[in-house]
Amino acid sequence: MRIIVVENYEEMSAKGAELFVEVMTAKKNCVIGLATGSTPIGLYNNLAKACAEGKVDFSEVTSVNLDEYYPLAPDNDQSYRYFMNKNLFDKVNIKKENTFVPDGTAKDPEAACKEYEQRIDALGGIDIQVLGIGRNGHIGFNEPDANGLFAETHLTALTENTIEANSRFFASADEVPKHALTMGIGSVFKARKIVIMANGADKADAIKKMVEGPISTMCPASLLCLHPDVTLICDKSAYSLVK
Ligand code: PGA
Repeated sequence: MRIIVVENYEEMSAKGAELFVEVMTAKKNCVIGLATGSTPIGLYNNLAKACAEGKVDFSEVTSVNLDEYYPLAPDNDQSYRYFMNKNLFDKVNIKKENTFVPDGTAKDPEAACKEYEQRIDALGGIDIQVLGIGRNGHIGFNEPDANGLFAETHLTALTENTIEANSRFFASADEVPKHALTMGIGSVFKARKIVIMANGADKADAIKKMVEGPISTMCPASLLCLHPDVTLICDKSAYSLVK
């Protein structure tokens, strides 16, 4: 794993964007893997700016997102589809029909997950995937689980910890959906290049466990140590507990 420690959120976002622009410049029709949450917003702002300045072109790009709440409609302002439109897709020249987010309204969520996984395969995998990390070490909605993790896109229950962390965006914790559709660890590993970003002291424990190990399903991000091309970009606070 390559580790880049930066001063702050702005530097983290700029560095992440640099890696994306590199891949997108080398391959016009690349597949980018995207995430939601506070972490990648700065990265998306940088990409939108680069696009406005003509430094990067999304016209042939396809995107796949990590996860979506279930059940939740795409026009709900807390849905991850809504988030992606607002924070990136509406600001760049990507074709909406080339943007994929798991379907939070699917009648048959298992079939929708299977289809999503097949889509990733049909696209030939992901060229570059951005990830945030949960305070509990989750990636996507792959929550810590002593009994193991799923490889492929699947329906999952959110942990209390994640419901509480995400309740800041809802009127109350009761309104946070209790389930999600998420790419699995194996789906994430189909990405040729992974960029995981973290900032702030509340991520320090998760980053320590991810970097120092042991590799464990109790810290899903620690499994990334097994992938051949992972770059961790984090600020000093998030890195502060690593020895
Ligand atoms: P955050 O969430 O970017 O809002 O901190 C990250 C995550 O939970 O994966």
